[in-house]
Amino acid sequence: MILRSMLFIPGDSDKKLAKADGSPADAIIVDLEDAVAAARKEAGRQITQEFLKARPLAGRKTKLYVRINPLESDMPLRDLAAISPGAPDGIMLPKASGPEDVELISRYLDILEMRDGVPAGHTKIVAITGESAEGVLSLRDYAKWKGKLPRLVGMCWGPWDLAADIGAGGNKDPQGNYELTYHMAMSMSLLGAKAAGLQAIDTAYTEFKDEAGLLAWCKRIRREGWTGKVAIHPAQVPIINAGFRPSDEEIAHAQRVLDAFAQADTGVASLDGVMLDLPHLKQARNIMELVKAS
Ligand code: COA
Ligand code: MG
Repeated sequence: MILRSMLFIPGDSDKKLAKADGSPADAIIVDLEDAVAAARKEAGRQITQEFLKARPLAGRKTKLYVRINPLESDMPLRDLAAISPGAPDGIMLPKASGPEDVELISRYLDILEMRDGVPAGHTKIVAITGESAEGVLSLRDYAKWKGKLPRLVGMCWGPWDLAADIGAGGNKDPQGNYELTYHMAMSMSLLGAKAAGLQAIDTAYTEFKDEAGLLAWCKRIRREGWTGKVAIHPAQVPIINAGFRPSDEEIAHAQRVLDAFAQADTGVASLDGVMLDLPHLKQARNIMELVKAS
């Protein structure tokens, strides 16, 4: 299943969590990390457990993920132990420094799923890999683990934590465009995800009132190969879903490419005087996959 839109909701806010039901998001991410203050972590775990238990696996229309605290803290096992009885559909692991971190979380989940009667392997993982210098530089390693981390379905990145990690004053230039390092980190996150056969999920669009800007950004990065984006406000979800749907022109063109190949009995075809070969066929199939997902 393609996770186009993933809506963050602070894990200690009953009021905001009540807005999860009926959201057109492909997944909700209940956050126990940055959106929950240190003094509220334990309350957040309890509220999150109750939230999950009130929405049993069988009747769920939206995937329910939980962002736990990072491995560099002493909290991830406490987070997992508290939420596992609610059978989350996935874990978002922040500040992943490499595939070994994902493997460790996978092992914890093996044990907790057995303890709590959750089907083995049910709980998937989206790792935030591009959030630290080490995380970005280890992106290449995930391809070597392909097939060995079956829970891992997607990767996300985080330019704010990355800036903090490397001691930068900010991540954008005065015109509002990412500085060089963040362009590189974003591009590496895309390539790292694709090389490992994973979904590439973009970070938050923090200017949550700028709907036109969000839509344009989603369309642009979808063309680059990104498959989804996190939302921080409910109003962003339908915009992200629309932005990740190929345009009518793209769909019509992809259909014509598929038709041209169906009629050709060689590896090349022609359409409107232009040569088409295997990459064009793959692109057309990708477009149709995205249409099916939406
Ligand atoms: N999930 C669910 N409900 C949300 C929400 C979210 N992420 N963000 C806002 N809402 C609710 C508000 O509580 C409000 O409800 P009400 O009408 O019943 O009062 C309604 O949607 C409209 O919210 P609005 O007034 O536009 O925004 P705000 O000023 O209350 O909140 C944020 C702005 C940024 C604080 C809020 O969107 C938020 O908490 N986002 C998630 C932050 C997060 O999880 N960050 C971690 C990942 S980066
Ligand atoms: Mg963060």
